[in-house]
Amino acid sequence: MCGIVGYVGNRQAQDIIVEGLRKLEYRGYDSAGVATLLDGRTHVRRAVGKLSNLANLLKETPLVGTTGVGHTRWATHGRPSEENAHPHTADGVTVVHNGIIENHLALRDELRKAGRVFKSETDTEIFAHLVALESARGLSLADAVRAAAARVHGAFALVVMREDSPGVLVGVKVASPLVVGIGDDEAFLASDVPAILAHTRRVIFLEEGDMAVITPQKVTLTTLRGEPVDRPVRVIDWTPVMAEKGGHKHFMHKEIFEQPRAVADTLRGRVGREEGQVFLDGVKVEELKSIKRVVVLACGTSWHAGLVGKALIEQFAHVPVDVELASEFRYREPIVEPGTLALAISQSGETADTLAALKEARNLGARVMAICNVLGSAIAREAEKDLGVLYTHAGPEIGVASTKAFVTQIVALHLMALGMGRARGHLDAQAVRTELQALSRLPKLMESVLDDDAQIAAIARTMLGTRDTLFLGRGMCFPIALEGALKLKEISYIHAEGYAAGEMKHGPIALIEHDLPVICLVTQGNGYDKMLGNIQEVRARGGRVIAIATDGDKQIGSLAQDVIYIPQCPRFLEPALAALPCQLLAYHVADGRGTDVDQPRNLAKSVTVE
Ligand code: M6R
Repeated sequence: MCGIVGYVGNRQAQDIIVEGLRKLEYRGYDSAGVATLLDGRTHVRRAVGKLSNLANLLKETPLVGTTGVGHTRWATHGRPSEENAHPHTADGVTVVHNGIIENHLALRDELRKAGRVFKSETDTEIFAHLVALESARGLSLADAVRAAAARVHGAFALVVMREDSPGVLVGVKVASPLVVGIGDDEAFLASDVPAILAHTRRVIFLEEGDMAVITPQKVTLTTLRGEPVDRPVRVIDWTPVMAEKGGHKHFMHKEIFEQPRAVADTLRGRVGREEGQVFLDGVKVEELKSIKRVVVLACGTSWHAGLVGKALIEQFAHVPVDVELASEFRYREPIVEPGTLALAISQSGETADTLAALKEARNLGARVMAICNVLGSAIAREAEKDLGVLYTHAGPEIGVASTKAFVTQIVALHLMALGMGRARGHLDAQAVRTELQALSRLPKLMESVLDDDAQIAAIARTMLGTRDTLFLGRGMCFPIALEGALKLKEISYIHAEGYAAGEMKHGPIALIEHDLPVICLVTQGNGYDKMLGNIQEVRARGGRVIAIATDGDKQIGSLAQDVIYIPQCPRFLEPALAALPCQLLAYHVADGRGTDVDQPRNLAKSVTVE
């Protein structure tokens, strides 16, 4: 789970690479490094810690050269240290790598016996040695990389340069993402599009087993076996500014505020309101007619979206839904009967557990489909082979804590449920029209919740010293309680539990003590009366109730210490709206505690290892 950038062209590589790495820091940030070629020699700078350390080092001792590679690391093999930071070199070969070489121990042993000396504990350095050995046999850089790649297995996106090949980089993609950027007399390789967006919008998403040889004028694509392949050049419409903070203190805050726009983008072109039609572009809707059961496969926040999706699909399409943690699914013997749809939900489209679970489901006979944010990602490509992908179109999400991806996933699930319900004849045009009219109002309703930012920040200030919190909800707001708790703990490091409020009496009620903040999702459409009872129980034990309630609620003000109101809306819209105050609360608590909101400790944006 690292970030890679490679550059060949006429400009100095160092700054382009460092800027690119800055956009990839979300992929990992325990060390970073850059290498360039100059006059047939490799020059490397590496630094432990955040990218700013490397940037400072480069200010003192800059690198010259128009061919270069860079890397920001999230350690898997070998502790975070300068020796283990990438790039790794061997005999004039330089490698940056994202992923894991699974047979590295056996190869290390073999290479040691052959007299090779290692400078790091990483699996990556092995690849540099393998390429060096193949190069010594007189192979071109591309052939040497191809031969080395045949010796390793695991997950890897690699970019390789060699001292005798200035102006050439070779990239390989196996189970980790790698994109090629095509500029004017320059070319790029990167783990993700934002890294190169300032320079080009023309990109090629490499597919499994692809190898790219890039020079300033030419991009050559082959398989790892050397057969030519043709991949489409896609034009990315994200502006570089969209990937910047846009005046907010943190990406997370910016992304929370982008949600009305993101939801509008999710809905764009998919709503035929007059005719009561839903257009699920990219999905073979007709084939959803024969689906008998849906199995959602997802992790973390995307799993919470799946729980909301269960209620939506069961309600509107009348198909039973199971929501599985992808990391658990394939380690038992799941029953996949004919007519099962495996629906992967993933922001990044690269989550290793979700991808593996989806492949397992397909092997067991399920039809597969995905809801993804990242175009051309591994999960999206897997689903494109079958029923297709419903893209959320949320734009790049940089903050590690998922926000706009979550809400757009819920909206995409809502559309899918309506499309499926209509296709199966469970909903008539009028029912779909009514739902779509409501959904179309969602962006505006969201804006009114975001207007409460200052009030929510003030409530957050009262929670800065707290050690534990509870989030309670019912019905479709139960997954929002789970999500609220996850948001708070991952960025503020405060212990938080999400519970179905009716479960409180079966255990968690023991946790309630004087002044424990309990965030209660007490909206009109999801178990309102029962929630009032739960709130009384919390109050009776001294808990401090922060309610998320519906505008116009006359009772809640006298029961809760603080109330955040969401606008009146149909009950199926409540989860998307109630998520926003939870996100803002978590954000302001974390910011108030001075944590690294966008890059919380121990976490990475996309988890590409199991
Ligand atoms: O990219 P994905 O949606 O597949 O990622 C799944 C989880 O890793 C992700 O949602 C994670 O839980 C986030 N840190 C939540 O904010």
